[in-house]
Amino acid sequence: MKLLVTGGAGFIGSAVVRQAVGEGHAVINLDALTYAACLENVASVANDPLYSFEQVDIRDAAAVDECIARNAPDAIMHLAAESHVDRSIDGPGVFIETNVMGTYNLLQSARALWERKGRDETFRFHHISTDEVFGSLPADPDVQFTEDTPYDPRSPYSASKASSDHLVRAWHETYGLPIVLTNCSNNYGPYHFPEKLIPVIILNALAGKPLPIYGDGSNVRDWLYVEDHADALLCVLKNGQVGRSYNIGGENERSNLQLVRTLCEILDRLSPRSDNASYAELITFVADRPGHDARYAIDPTRIRTELGWRPSVTVEEGLERTVRWYLDNEAWWQALQNREGVGQRLGTKA
Ligand SMILES: NC(=O)c1ccc[n+]([C@@H]2O[C@H](COP(=O)([O-])OP(=O)(O)OC[C@H]3O[C@@H](n4cnc5c(N)ncnc54)[C@H](O)[C@@H]3O)[C@@H](O)[C@H]2O)c1
Repeated sequence: MKLLVTGGAGFIGSAVVRQAVGEGHAVINLDALTYAACLENVASVANDPLYSFEQVDIRDAAAVDECIARNAPDAIMHLAAESHVDRSIDGPGVFIETNVMGTYNLLQSARALWERKGRDETFRFHHISTDEVFGSLPADPDVQFTEDTPYDPRSPYSASKASSDHLVRAWHETYGLPIVLTNCSNNYGPYHFPEKLIPVIILNALAGKPLPIYGDGSNVRDWLYVEDHADALLCVLKNGQVGRSYNIGGENERSNLQLVRTLCEILDRLSPRSDNASYAELITFVADRPGHDARYAIDPTRIRTELGWRPSVTVEEGLERTVRWYLDNEAWWQALQNREGVGQRLGTKA
């Protein structure tokens, strides 16, 4: 298959690019190279004849149209987005421009290509979204997000992603564009940009800095290893039913405090502090995020029963791999330390 992957220089997109090239697909990586991008993430496939890169901003409709028409992919996997909730609180405008208008531009160009291909039924527009569109869950472990949970986004980020999901469904219902949609829980793993919780904790710990936890640390997330997510996305692209959405989860619910304590235990083993004190002593509770959703949890029944997919690693295994990766790849994260906003507390302007 010839795949056009948007956002392929980001955290999840690069995992999709690496895996897709590894499976023998031709991959065009379309990315604007914003502050969150790093072409180093795809260095392992950069010289592969199956791989090519196009620097395109999805807010630029003409550039998107030209790129899609010229490459004429069999499928588009759309991951490009502004993705950080804290940044969406401080500056929501670019989230609307990229996540909503950018998705609209892609849908229009994909639709034109699909029409030129004679409305080819094998064509796919795969929209990659988040479980945050469903809002916040109560603590009751029997209540989880299903594909039928009503949308209830509560941050500018999740509202912009929810808007894009609605556009994608509308282009299927109205124009017949063959789409699949996935809503995934929180990802973690190698190449995670150092503004998100897990890399912040690992890198602050190694620097002997406080480990910031928003509020009381009781917020619960369902953690998925990024390479499992990439695997699930390729599975849905190949086997998912047209017009259908699939929730993807790690089946690994943890509170932020539990997660950080686990990271500290791993770091204590793999990179002990000189005085042998635990990294957990550096845990510091800081002001909560405005509108911080209490709990996200995915009911994975559909993807498991219809497509036979389930995650391959537990959160403990995945976190250990992740810590080892950051310990072994200091040059990667050191190079990102000077990017705008990295190392600062964002999202407090509300
Ligand atoms: N990170 C998570 O836990 C998570 C969970 C579920 C869903 N998602 C979704 O997965 C996708 C990828 O998330 P991520 O964590 O890899 O994000 P990321 O921020 O690491 O990467 C986003 C990529 O998109 C590119 N991009 C941003 N604006 C662009 C524009 N205007 N034009 C072209 N490219 C642009 C960036 O340069 C970057 O390479 C997003 O759509 C996000 O909503 C993320």
